[in-house]
Amino acid sequence: MNEIRFDGRVAIVTGAGGGLGRAHALLLASRGAKVVVNDLGGTRDGTGASHNMADLVVQEIRNAGGEAVANYDGVDTLAGGEAIVRTAVDAFGKVDIVINNAGILRDRAFHNLTEEDWDRVLAVHLKGAFNVTQPAFRVMRQNSYGRVVLTSSASGIYGNFGQSNYAAAKMALIGLMNVLELEGARYNIKVNTIAPVAASRLTVDVLPPPILERMKPELVSPLVAYLSSEECQESGSIFTVGGGYISRIAIIEGNGVFLDSEREVTIEAVRRSFLQVKDMAGAREFADLNDEITTRVFSRIMKEAAE
Ligand code: NAI
Repeated sequence: MNEIRFDGRVAIVTGAGGGLGRAHALLLASRGAKVVVNDLGGTRDGTGASHNMADLVVQEIRNAGGEAVANYDGVDTLAGGEAIVRTAVDAFGKVDIVINNAGILRDRAFHNLTEEDWDRVLAVHLKGAFNVTQPAFRVMRQNSYGRVVLTSSASGIYGNFGQSNYAAAKMALIGLMNVLELEGARYNIKVNTIAPVAASRLTVDVLPPPILERMKPELVSPLVAYLSSEECQESGSIFTVGGGYISRIAIIEGNGVFLDSEREVTIEAVRRSFLQVKDMAGAREFADLNDEITTRVFSRIMKEAAE
């Protein structure tokens, strides 16, 4: 079987100084990609900064015969995002792959959450994806080639106590992906999202030790690399991945009910049909807003108009 390679490709991995980002960067570099290893080098709540983390990973890549440069900018400012992309263009001439991975945690029950906890977490996870991906997307459009991976979380997709700021940011990335999929399609830019689980400093006190041992970040990176490869044509999909498990997650919509819009749309009619409203038998995915709205919401009106 031929090996999937990244020779001639330039990848940015944000937050690549440790955990998952480091594993993604090492794998891509080992298959020939030139890698920008970005990391602010702060603590897990986003305070502080140092060059150490990114430098060590660049050294590891070079020691193994790969090519990499370090970048120490924060993804949480537009200037930082632009500087990260500039590092790739200055060092390697372009950017083909962006792995948005940088992340912090500020967990607190919602009623105790401060505005700063909210703002900092959204700035790194959500605005960070905008800050880095937008300047990269512009380069990718010019080159008619790009692969983008966003890092969401099951916490955002399914919910997790004490993570309202984090979950809101992580779910918002799926909205971003859905639009970038459409806007990137003409330019061969594919955008996918992962919801990983792995042992890292973010999960060291959350998952029990016997599980942590089996949840190596290296078990997440092959999916990330595959989604970043030229041969992968997937775009707009969400994958849950960790410990050897890989599966697609989808947003689906049920068949619902159609109430008579002239007479029947009352509170009591909603009560009467609520079980049917909630029934997911025959549920399906939609390609985009137009697909959903014409297939479901407008379908009765269009059918009546045609009769
Ligand atoms: P980690 O803490 O080891 O890695 C995050 C990296 O991002 C750190 O090296 C940190 O220095 C860097 N970083 C933080 N703020 C930054 C900024 N403003 N600019 C640049 N770099 C910054 O944690 P882990 O687990 O490897 O997390 C990677 C991503 O995966 C995060 O987005 C996290 O939310 C996500 N994730 C991880 C899960 C897990 O089970 N480990 C579960 C679900 C999502």
